[in-house]
Amino acid sequence: MPKISQRQLLIFLASLKSYVLSMRYDLKSAWSNYDDCSYSVAARADKRLVVAQILQHLPYGKVLDLGANTGHYSFAAAIIGHDVTAVDSDHDCVQYITTHKPLIQALKVNVCNPTPAIGWNNTERKSFWERCNPDTIMCLALLHHLCISNNTPLDYVAKLLSEHCEHLIIEWVPLDDPKAAAIAFNRIFPRYNLDVFKSASAITSPSRKKGRWQIQNAQSI
Ligand SMILES: C[S@@+](CC[C@H](N)C(=O)[O-])C[C@H]1O[C@@H](n2cnc3c(N)ncnc32)[C@H](O)[C@@H]1O
Repeated sequence: MPKISQRQLLIFLASLKSYVLSMRYDLKSAWSNYDDCSYSVAARADKRLVVAQILQHLPYGKVLDLGANTGHYSFAAAIIGHDVTAVDSDHDCVQYITTHKPLIQALKVNVCNPTPAIGWNNTERKSFWERCNPDTIMCLALLHHLCISNNTPLDYVAKLLSEHCEHLIIEWVPLDDPKAAAIAFNRIFPRYNLDVFKSASAITSPSRKKGRWQIQNAQSI
């Protein structure tokens, strides 16, 4: 093994560092420019206001933003003082948050196939949900992806969400929403409706008081 002097090593590390810092990564996935094309500026500002108002009334704690995209709403939670983890299945979105929003921990996770426990006897590293323990989950403009794109029954999603958090901020995406209709593509989802979702969540969380549902206009949140 050739000997390398400390000076040579430092020169090597400096050049490696400058090479890494000079690397550029262009965001180009289907989702990384979603912010720019899906909502009008006013609708986006409205939605952010509603989300921020709800978050302001919650005790400071851990917020998990599922399907966070480039972290617009994660950031709204972080600047209020919550400890935010943003999750998205799209690599470029996660990369964007990591680079531009250092207040937020970003993880690449597919909610329909989350990271399992790994290592010796599956006990060295806990599964995604065992590690998370959020107080609040935000699930904004994601339901149709889970239930329609991924064919997950709505009551499974409701059960999952209500098992893992105390507070849930969820955007209900109706089947006649243009994006939902586009991905449904004439398929019929008779059990994708608000009643199924509410009753499934109430069953899994019997302690949840009636009337705590605060349904916002689907257009504005
Ligand atoms: C319609 S955008 C919503 C973004 C943001 N939550 C909002 O309200 O504007 C949906 C996001 O969910 C992500 N997504 C879709 N399916 C997912 C899944 N199974 N697990 C995690 N993220 C997913 C997409 O990559 C995309 O960034």
